[in-house]
Amino acid sequence: MKITVESQDPSRAGAELLAVPLASLDTGAKLATRVAAVDRAIGGQIAEVVRSGDFRGRKGESLLLFGRGAPRRVLLLGLGDEAKLDAEAVRQLAGRAVAGAAARRTRSVAIAFPATRKLRAAELARALAEGATLASYRPDAWKTKKNDAPPALGRVVLLVEREADVRAAREAAELGATIAECQNVARRLSNEPANALPPAQLAAEARRVANEVGLRCRIFDVPELRRRKMGALLGVGQGSTHPPRLVVIEHVPRPATRARRTVCVIGKGITFDSGGISIKPAGGMHDMKHDMSGAAAVVGILRAAALLEIPLHVVGVIAAAENMPGGEAYRPGDVLTSMSGQTIEIQNTDAEGRLVLCDAIHFARTQYEPDAIIDLATLTGACVVALGSWTSGLFGNHEALCDAIRRAGATTGERAWPMPMADEHRDEMRSQVADLKNVSGSRDAGASTAAAFLSHFVGDTPWAHLDIAGTAYTSKTGACQPYGATGVGVRLVTEVLQSWPHGGL
Ligand code: BES
Ligand code: MN
Ligand code: ZN
Repeated sequence: MKITVESQDPSRAGAELLAVPLASLDTGAKLATRVAAVDRAIGGQIAEVVRSGDFRGRKGESLLLFGRGAPRRVLLLGLGDEAKLDAEAVRQLAGRAVAGAAARRTRSVAIAFPATRKLRAAELARALAEGATLASYRPDAWKTKKNDAPPALGRVVLLVEREADVRAAREAAELGATIAECQNVARRLSNEPANALPPAQLAAEARRVANEVGLRCRIFDVPELRRRKMGALLGVGQGSTHPPRLVVIEHVPRPATRARRTVCVIGKGITFDSGGISIKPAGGMHDMKHDMSGAAAVVGILRAAALLEIPLHVVGVIAAAENMPGGEAYRPGDVLTSMSGQTIEIQNTDAEGRLVLCDAIHFARTQYEPDAIIDLATLTGACVVALGSWTSGLFGNHEALCDAIRRAGATTGERAWPMPMADEHRDEMRSQVADLKNVSGSRDAGASTAAAFLSHFVGDTPWAHLDIAGTAYTSKTGACQPYGATGVGVRLVTEVLQSWPHGGL
């Protein structure tokens, strides 16, 4: 799908479908000049449906009009209250235009920029490109009958109002499309069934993406993990016939921009979480194929870092394992020795995410001495209870880093909200038998105690942990979001990296 930005009059845009956004308006409202031009081209139909009250510009409202010549199809899309317009509403608008085109089986769509002072042309262009790209993703990799599916959209034309804005809008649209494509890469990986994407395959996919965009990639197999004494990751993986992997993807900035700041982005890559010996109930277990969504986000983030030439040394680390109850599986009561040397008493094999992460964190910290670590993990059901599917949980030991992530959450629409993590939570994770235990023993503050477990491995490195258990996949579909993986974290963390302070944190 190609996205272009033009400044021509919408009534002359040669696409098969022209989407015209309109904010809430009353029946006496006068149409904006450019909308009025479209209106004239289709014989005054827009003015008519506005005057009659058949179209009021309410959020979600849509109406298809037909012209005799060009434009042939005009899709009016309601934006709702203009005073409340934000980037997310603009993404949704683009998504609805793309869906509208797909439903009519057209191969091209033009989208007129909404008339608003709330967002600048570049902001509109970026959000429109993001929305269109996200909406074009379909989770149909395993459908054998694609004939019923509408043809893929070939062309999206974004119609900016002023010629003077074209350049900035083009650049912004390209940025938006690139980041959204990276988000789609993450979605594609997360949606893969666990039989198609065991750890070795996840690693191979990460390497494929890395090679495509010129990133370095290293994959550690079991002998290498043993040499490096990653006992926690190995322990989780030992119950599966598909052995674990650790993947390192590295973005090294061009020498001219080399500020030598290093940020490690770490992803939980449990390709399937059965719970292990502490097995999960059957209902909903199929969703645990998404338990590698943090890892999928890391692949997307590193792809974005490369394509956007982010002037930071960004290291992606993926801890990949399958949590299964095989004959060799680790058991409750076992003690694992982590790479850090800290021993961990296992009280529940279903608390495996923190185990694979603790070795990845220790590896990242000792290998790269990074300025900061950000990890993404579908870590706890407790976080889903606390924040639902609307917000990721944000934990950490560094205020400026957490603030930067929260702000990026607001600008990208991938909200993250600060959650507590205190010494009391850290103390809950101490064991009578070993240095630490992997569950606290009560369900209270389950997302905080999980984060606190990780904190025992970060030392004084600035660190933030995103619990994406509730946000990584969804059955609440929308214009830009089909059933399944969301690709959450890609827009969020890419924004954090792009706006990394020059003077450091
Ligand atoms: N992968 C799950 C967390 C999860 C739950 C993700 C729901 C997405 C949706 C994680 O490995 C897990 O099983 N956590 C346990 C921890 C418990 C045993 C302390 C949980 O949340 O129940
Ligand atoms: Mn689990
Ligand atoms: Zn898990």
